[in-house]
Amino acid sequence: MLWFGGDYNPEQWPEPVWDEDVRLMAEAGVNLVSVGIFAWATVEPRPGEYDFGWFDRVLDKLAGAGVGASLATMTASPPPWLAARHPETLPQRADGVRLWPGGRQQYCPSSPVYREHAARLVERIAERYGAHPALKLWHIGNEYGCHVRQCWCDVSAADFRRWLRERYGDLDGLNAAWSTTFWSQRYGDWDEIQPPRTAPTFVNPAQKLDFARFSDDALLACYALERDIVRRYTPDVPVTTNFIGLVHKPVDSFRWAREQDVVSLDSYPDPYDPRAHVEAAFGYDLVRAARGGQPWLLMEQAPSAVNWRERNAPKPPGVMRLWSWQAIAQGADAALFFQWRQAAGGAEKFHSAMVPHAGPDSRGFRDVRALGAELGGLAGVAGTRLRADVAIVHDWANWWALESDARPAVLDLLETHRAHYEPLFDAHVSVDVVPVDADLSGYKLVVVPNLYLLADGAAQRLTSYVEGGGHLVVSFFTGIVDECDRVHLGGYPAPLRRVLGLAVEEFHPLPPGGSAEFDGGRGTVWSEWVEPEGAEVVAAFRGGALDGRPAITRHAYGTGVAWYLATRPEPAAMRALLDRVRAGAGAGPVLAGLPEGVQATVRTGPGHSYLFLLNHGAEPATVNLPEPGADLLTDPERPQSTVTLPPRGVAVIRR
Ligand code: GAL
Repeated sequence: MLWFGGDYNPEQWPEPVWDEDVRLMAEAGVNLVSVGIFAWATVEPRPGEYDFGWFDRVLDKLAGAGVGASLATMTASPPPWLAARHPETLPQRADGVRLWPGGRQQYCPSSPVYREHAARLVERIAERYGAHPALKLWHIGNEYGCHVRQCWCDVSAADFRRWLRERYGDLDGLNAAWSTTFWSQRYGDWDEIQPPRTAPTFVNPAQKLDFARFSDDALLACYALERDIVRRYTPDVPVTTNFIGLVHKPVDSFRWAREQDVVSLDSYPDPYDPRAHVEAAFGYDLVRAARGGQPWLLMEQAPSAVNWRERNAPKPPGVMRLWSWQAIAQGADAALFFQWRQAAGGAEKFHSAMVPHAGPDSRGFRDVRALGAELGGLAGVAGTRLRADVAIVHDWANWWALESDARPAVLDLLETHRAHYEPLFDAHVSVDVVPVDADLSGYKLVVVPNLYLLADGAAQRLTSYVEGGGHLVVSFFTGIVDECDRVHLGGYPAPLRRVLGLAVEEFHPLPPGGSAEFDGGRGTVWSEWVEPEGAEVVAAFRGGALDGRPAITRHAYGTGVAWYLATRPEPAAMRALLDRVRAGAGAGPVLAGLPEGVQATVRTGPGHSYLFLLNHGAEPATVNLPEPGADLLTDPERPQSTVTLPPRGVAVIRR
C-alpha cells in the first residue's frame, strides 16, 4: 500500500470538525496522518498533569475510519511552562542571544531538563497508545534542527566538553587535532574550552567542525532517547523522524538513517522555479540511498503554496500530482502533506492544506481526492526498488569543513552538487547520492564533486574502486584535509595523487562571475595549477596564467579510469564531459531516446516492474516504449507502444 495523507492537528479545531475530517479523509483515500506533532502543551497543560482524553477520541475516530496514525511523540515544541520554570532549557545563539518561547522548538538539545520532560511524556504516550489499532508508525520529534541547529549556551558548553573528552581522551589529543599552537589557542584545562562563540575573528576551524559533529550528536541523542522508549513498548512498530528537505546541513541524514526503521523527508520545491524538480530529485536520490535503496516516505509537501518564502507561489494545476508521483517514482512509498486542514489562526494560516480555507468544494480538495484515488489503485508499487549505475558522493563532515571560514574561495557544496547532478538528471540517468563509506562496487561511475575533507581510509576506497575497474570523476579541491581539517601534506590532493595521476600546486579561484577558457569549453568558479604525473591531458586552459596547463585529465589506473576537473565546466561542457565519461563507463539512461524534460525511472519488485514517466516540461512529450505496456493511470487495459504525456503528465507503465 502507498501511504497518502498528511499532518493532522485536530487540537486546533472543535470536536465536531473531527467528524467531518475523518469523513473527508475516507472520501479522499487518506490512509495515514501524522498526529500530535505540536500537541505537547495540550496534552500536558501543567507539568505532570495530563489530558489525553481528547486524543483518545481522535485516535479512535481515525481507527474507525481506517486511517492509520503516524503517531508523534509530541516533543517537537515544549510548552511555555518548561521555559518559565527552567529558563536554562532555552537555546542560545553564538552571540549570546537567548531564543525565547513564542515560536517553536525553543529547547537546548543538550538540556537534561528538556530531555527528562520529553522522555516522561513519550513514556506516557507509548504506554497509552502502543496497542492502539490506529498506530502504524512512530513519528519522533519533528524536523530535528529545523530552527535550532546548534546551541551555544552554558549547558551545551559543558556537554561539548564531555563530548570532546570522549573523542580525544586527553588535552594533548585535542590540542593536536585542533592545531591549537596556532594563534596561542593551546588549552591547559578542559574548562577553558568553549563552543565556537562569536569571537574577534575566524574561530578555529577544527573547533567549529567538532562543534558541528557534536551538535548533530546532541540532536541525535534526543531522537534516540525517544526512539528507545517507544521501541520498548512496540518493538514491531517502525520508527522514523522526518528530515528537512532537501538536504539539511546540520543533520547528517546518512548517520541518522541507520538509527531509523524507515527514513522520511519533507520536500518543498518552489513552484516559481522551473528547475525545482531537479533539486528535489537530488534530495530524493539521497534519502533513498541513505538506507541502501529501501523505500522512503515523503512525509511533508505542500498541496499548493507555502507561507514562508518572500513570495509564495501556488502550485499550478497538475503540479501537486506530478511532484507527488515524482517522489514515488524516485522510491517513496508515501505521498503525505503538510497539512490536512488549513489553520484558521497561528503563523501557518496561509500555508496551503489538503482541505483549504475554501473547503472541500474546491479545486484543491478535488485534486487531493483524485490523487488519493490514483495512489490507492497502485498499491503494487509499494516495496519496489530502483537501481542506479551512477553514484554521487556526499559527506556531511566535508560539508561542514568546506563551508567554514578562510578558504581559497567561498564554495557552496549544494551548488557544486547541482552542477554535477543536473547533467545526469537531464540525460535521464538514475543516480544514488551516497555516503563516503558506501559500497561502491555496484556502480559503473562514481562522481566526487568537492570532497575537500577526505580521510585516508575513504581515499583508499576510492583508489581501490578505480583499481578494480570503476570509473571515477573527481572535481577540484578534493582530498585536501583530514578529519581534523589538517592539510594532507605531500602535494595536493595527497591521498588521491596516485589514482588521479597528478598533483595540484596552486589554487587559482576565479573572480566572482569570472571564467577560464579551456579546450572545448569555459570553466567557472575555480582553476588551478596542475602537474600531470601520468594522467592524460584531455583539455588544457587557454590564456591567462594557466595557459596550456591541464583543465581536465583522464588517468587509466588499475583496470579503471579516474577523471579530474581542475575547474567547473559550464553546464553544456559539463554535460558533454559527463556524457563522454558515462559512455566509457557503460552507464546509460533509463530509456534511450527520451524527450527533454521527461523524467523516467524504473521500480522493480519480484516478478514485476513499473516504468514511471513524468513530463516536467511545458509541451506534450511522446515516449516510445521498448515494449508495449499499459499506462496504469489512464488506460490500464490497453498496452501501447508509445505514450504521449501532456505537460505535467504522468504515466506508470507496468512491465
Ligand atoms: C515543516 C514543518 C511543518 C510545517 C511545514 C510548513 O518544516 O515540519 O510543521 O511548519 O514546514 O511548510
